[in-house]
Amino acid sequence: MDTPARLTIRRPDDWHVHLRDGAVLAGVAPHTARQFARAIVMPNLSPPVTTVAAARGYRERIVAAAPGFTPLMTAYLTDATDAGELVRGQAEGVFAAAKLYPANATTGSAHGVNDIARLMPVLAAMEKIGLPLLIHGEVTDSAVDIFDREAVFIERHLAGIVRELPGLKVVFEHITTAQAVDFVESAGANVAATITPQHLHLNRNALFEGGIRPHAYCLPVAKREVHRLALRRAATSGSAKYFLGTDSAPHAVSAKEAACGCAGIFNAAYALESYAAVFEEEDALGRLEAFASQNGPAFYGLPRNEGTVTLVREDHVVPDIIEAGGTPIVPFHAGETLRWKIA
Ligand code: DOR
Ligand code: ZN
Repeated sequence: MDTPARLTIRRPDDWHVHLRDGAVLAGVAPHTARQFARAIVMPNLSPPVTTVAAARGYRERIVAAAPGFTPLMTAYLTDATDAGELVRGQAEGVFAAAKLYPANATTGSAHGVNDIARLMPVLAAMEKIGLPLLIHGEVTDSAVDIFDREAVFIERHLAGIVRELPGLKVVFEHITTAQAVDFVESAGANVAATITPQHLHLNRNALFEGGIRPHAYCLPVAKREVHRLALRRAATSGSAKYFLGTDSAPHAVSAKEAACGCAGIFNAAYALESYAAVFEEEDALGRLEAFASQNGPAFYGLPRNEGTVTLVREDHVVPDIIEAGGTPIVPFHAGETLRWKIA
């Protein structure tokens, strides 16, 4: 297929983003709002967003940072989560979903869930009211190889949750493996997945290319090439089960380039352009709109956005650093040339 010089799609959404708070929020939120009408906002602040009141306050701060943008708020599940708070948050139009971090699986997950079995009554309440469960799917067992932690999570936890609560809407977030794709394929329409740009572009070699590369490090960590290829097939397949979720996770350069660097890739600034490169390479530009603008709202039961965004075929070099409210952050694709640009 000849590549068109312009591509206009319905305005997309980002179904998984970390916007942080304070000055960094003010610096990063406009990058997301430039491309996306709405976003599912992760609650792993410090302290985490566990209550309706906290989510409401955070939502106001996001809108102040990016007027016109619609943040969709999530509740952070803990061992002490009260189902009543989730029910009330949904009824009051605050919570669009709840996020399950296994305790200590990743950045900002120290207050996450230690015993998923004990959370089942809360998940059952979510099933009843139709509140989607968003899952960081990695076991935290240090005896499990870090590259196997997603696949083992499916066996130890996710399969059981989906079996016991067949009506629960589940988004398997930022999937990184062929096993995750297989699981999502084999499950019902109530189980979907988000896929990040980095996991479509990078395999685990990127972490060690000529030296250790902290800006390619996020969790779940990138896997072998065979997995990247499975993710590319899934994202570009046209299946309604996959949708755009950047997992953009900004950290200061100093926190990344350190003896114990933070997990997270800041991809918000050129996210749509990054996905477009993948869809073009897979000869699937005609399916970008479904992935970016249709499948997510269909799963969440929300209307599609009005309006459009146009990408033009124009080479541009991604900056080495983006200043976000005084914090220097290295963006995904820093120094690389991207072929698509938002008009
Ligand atoms: O790489 C990651 N960074 N993965 C996560 O799950 C959390 C995120 C963050 O908040 O920095
Ligand atoms: Zn995330």
